Amino acid sequence: STEESLYRPNFHFTPKKAWMNDPNGMFYYNGYYHLYFQYHPESSVWGPMHWGHAISTDMISWREQPIAIYPDELGTIFSGSAVVDISNSSGFGEVSKAIPIVAMYTSSKKLGEGDNWKQTQSIAYSNDEGKTFTKYDSNPVIDNDNIKDFRDPKVVWDEDRKKWVMVLAAGDNIMFYDSKDLKTWNLLSNFGKNIGGHGGVWECPDLFKLPIIGTNESKWVLLVSINPGGPNGGSATQYFVGDFDGTQFTLDKDFETSLNNDHNFWIDFGRDNYAGVSWSNARTKDGGILMLGWMSNWHYAQKVPTETWRSAMTVARKVQLQKNENGYRLISNPVQQLASYRGEKYKKENIIISGDTKIIDTKTIDLASAEIQFNISDLTETTYTFKLENQAGEKLLFGFDNIKKTFFINRKQAGNTTFSEKFADRISIAPRTSSNQNLSGTILLDKTSIELFFDNGETVMTEIFFPTEPFETLSINSNNQDFTLSSIEINKLNF
Ligand code: FRU
Repeated sequence: STEESLYRPNFHFTPKKAWMNDPNGMFYYNGYYHLYFQYHPESSVWGPMHWGHAISTDMISWREQPIAIYPDELGTIFSGSAVVDISNSSGFGEVSKAIPIVAMYTSSKKLGEGDNWKQTQSIAYSNDEGKTFTKYDSNPVIDNDNIKDFRDPKVVWDEDRKKWVMVLAAGDNIMFYDSKDLKTWNLLSNFGKNIGGHGGVWECPDLFKLPIIGTNESKWVLLVSINPGGPNGGSATQYFVGDFDGTQFTLDKDFETSLNNDHNFWIDFGRDNYAGVSWSNARTKDGGILMLGWMSNWHYAQKVPTETWRSAMTVARKVQLQKNENGYRLISNPVQQLASYRGEKYKKENIIISGDTKIIDTKTIDLASAEIQFNISDLTETTYTFKLENQAGEKLLFGFDNIKKTFFINRKQAGNTTFSEKFADRISIAPRTSSNQNLSGTILLDKTSIELFFDNGETVMTEIFFPTEPFETLSINSNNQDFTLSSIEINKLNF
């Protein structure tokens, strides 16, 4: 169908049919990366949640699997996590001698009419490496009578204390728990009231320890998704850098100072990366975590112009922690596995740009399946604008304004925007933190998405768009002033 050919992504995960939101239960085991997801199999809008399932050997090519967890009498299955219980601490592995996978999720039960839910935490285990799950017979493992938003448990192994730790979103703060057996959970502390962004409800937390690049030091990072209240409206994921002593998370002093000066700690400044959390039992060689997010935004997710399926995930990313004269920064880049899909290459150096200059068109390399790396040296006081355009005159503009020091994406004229007033109500921007006189970036292009990784991943922007026909040309312009594009390399990605 036209919908399939025009909008089904080339390399971003989508379910074959129906509604999807948050990634859930991600873990790595025995050669496979597992991705579960919030799924409503009956419809193209949100409804009673299940956990859909997909597997991959490289986090790039996914194979969808049968639904893994279905609603029950305790409620529908909201977001959560899964761990590989290597030591069989839960005892769930006893019967088959297989290493159990233990999932923890929110059972969400609607009470009467309106937006009134009872949210409790439940567990389920798998003895077949994540294919099928059996619910624990004493669910819920954490009951709740009075907290309105109480959800999205993320279980992590605390190697320093040799225990399970779980972070849970509770409206305007994160609750910390611990456990020896994944069944009995003790409340330890909470974090976040009056700290960070509070423009909306807190959701989908994650907690992990990361080495600081180039040092022997490590810090703990807490991710908190928030909706609404993102930097460009709607849903987004903020982060906090600090320490975790086994009981309490406290902000690092330097981080706290920068946070109080201006709150610019977002995993991604674009409008379409939400609810992302890390894979359990997986790290990069240099200690980075691996994650992906839901590539949409609650502001308009249920109205985007696809009917067969709705929503895609971002590309999988490696996330590291950097500290320099500007303070702490999470650095995100596409996972290295993406490079093995590179096909034809177009590469040019020292191109003189004057006026609107076409760089490439789809006849040379398909611009709906491409990875672009560029470098501009000796930045001047101007705006560098990239433009993707089609025959219908639709265009997506993005780039860097070196007067305001902001990156931007402008999808106002990028095709169909009328399905929601909020979709193209503004140009999205992200402040630049690096003061480097050279600007480098990686651009990932699919049929309906752009992912921008500037300054080696120091600032990231992800957004979706819906052109009525494919974009055909990529050009660049800098307010009609001449400049030299030091290098550009475009790789076709083959899937
Ligand atoms: C985040 C979220 C979670 C919740 C799930 C429900 O997008 O609202 O907090 O568990 O979606 O589908």
